[in-house]
Amino acid sequence: SERFTVAIDGPAASGKGTISRAVAARLGFAHLDTGLLYRAVGARMLEGQEPVEAARSLDPSELDEERLRTGPVAQAASQVAALPEVRQALTDFQRAFARRAGGAVLDGRDIGTVICPEAEAKLFVTASPECRAERRYKELSAKGYDVTEDSVLEDVRARDARDSERAVAPMRPAEDAVEIDTTTLSIEEAIETALAVIEARR
Ligand code: C5P
Repeated sequence: SERFTVAIDGPAASGKGTISRAVAARLGFAHLDTGLLYRAVGARMLEGQEPVEAARSLDPSELDEERLRTGPVAQAASQVAALPEVRQALTDFQRAFARRAGGAVLDGRDIGTVICPEAEAKLFVTASPECRAERRYKELSAKGYDVTEDSVLEDVRARDARDSERAVAPMRPAEDAVEIDTTTLSIEEAIETALAVIEARR
């Protein structure tokens, strides 16, 4: 059966998660949100565990927990994500997932550059920081979290800076990635644009 890897990178709340889920569902591919790996390690650090130990003993069944979706966990995730040994410990799992039979979509920050440089299709999804903060704010307040739009924008900017300036696997588009700016696109338009890019490579 088919082996085809779609790498989707981009900053927080750019729409990459929504696009990845929709594309995977449409193509019948498996989907891995790699941010959850770093969030799970970040959550364990907040509980007092040493991050490298946490990364080495991570169990994929920890990944669908709603507690990983909070601001403090996101910040902790981007701190542990700057540690080379944490990234190293999570690499094999991501690469094995990418090459599974039947196709895979992985979304994150370094999928097209470091984890799957051989991916058949690469996308880099962006949107303005204000637009991303507004989306994340709506999402969090709809879930009942007590946040302000300003605090969410600050969180998004802090993570952008840390993720793009770190020495190891910084967030950046792969040379052969197609960039999609979702600032003025509807969700449907963003998904159709992504699918067209992928279909052109199959
Ligand atoms: O995508 P998400 O916002 O859930 O990611 C949380 C954090 O995990 C990011 O801010 C980033 O620091 C880190 N991350 C990463 N590499 C990935 C995915 C996420 O460094 N492939």
